[in-house]
Amino acid sequence: MKMNKNAPCWCGSKKKYKNCHEKWDDTINVLKIRGHMVPEHHLIKNAEDIKWIKKAAAINNGILDNVGSLIKPGVTTEEIDKFVYDYTTSHGGIPAPLGYEGYPKSVCTSVNDEICHGIPSDKVVLKEGDIVNVDCTTIFHGHYADASRMFCVGQVSPEAQRLIDVTKECLEIGIKAVRPWGHIGDIGAAIQEHAHKNGYSVVREFCGHGVGNGFHEDPYVQHVGIRGTGMVIAPGMVFTIEPMINEGKAPLYIDEDNGWTAYTKDGKLSAQWEHTLLVTEHGVEILAW
Ligand code: MF3
Ligand code: CO
Ligand code: CO
Repeated sequence: MKMNKNAPCWCGSKKKYKNCHEKWDDTINVLKIRGHMVPEHHLIKNAEDIKWIKKAAAINNGILDNVGSLIKPGVTTEEIDKFVYDYTTSHGGIPAPLGYEGYPKSVCTSVNDEICHGIPSDKVVLKEGDIVNVDCTTIFHGHYADASRMFCVGQVSPEAQRLIDVTKECLEIGIKAVRPWGHIGDIGAAIQEHAHKNGYSVVREFCGHGVGNGFHEDPYVQHVGIRGTGMVIAPGMVFTIEPMINEGKAPLYIDEDNGWTAYTKDGKLSAQWEHTLLVTEHGVEILAW
């Protein structure tokens, strides 16, 4: 169906279609005819969405900039949770994890062999040499921003530090692979190569994801892949890249008691970094980090 050039654009910008997404649709339609999977219109954020996502991101970035000063031997992950809840709500936001599909806390705190979805607890006391991922998602005015970083508890082993550093490089290399009118598979291919080159494995069960108007939107952003495959990356998409990289093998198991926390099967370390990205006409803008 061809839209009237003078009708308001489908993106909600209130601009005329011909001055807004007509060219975008033309490009998408060519790719679609060539057999590529393309994003639906509802995945494309307009200026208003982006404005609110950036406000959510500002709170989220503030949490992760400040939580590090709390993290030292003897601190519990419950204390991290309290900091995240208090910071978020005092800045007018809502911690997205709290109550999400039954998740009981405001943040995920994944320690050592925990891959992701570590649940804060007063029983988890951080000790010298631990590595911990703090994964925060903030809702502001109905819009979401999602990011995570690694923190070291006191002095950590050179092996742990190398895993943290290479995992961050995996995220950075994944971001460099994001190109408007490229493919989601380009991202996973780049990440996978870098992880394997360093002797590490990539977790397959958890992926990056569209984000912004909801917590988890399409597409899935796998951290393994084949270049030129998967959904086309188009300007206006907002999604996360969040590689989970294991020191040992990739297989995992889920905590039977809480139903959430993923651990490495071999008990070796796992690290993760996550950013929320906006695809622009010329490249990529990092919104939450
Ligand atoms: N923040 C996680 C992500 O990166 C999702 C956590 S879901 C929760 O997608 F319920 F555990 F918080
Ligand atoms: Co996250
Ligand atoms: Co995420």
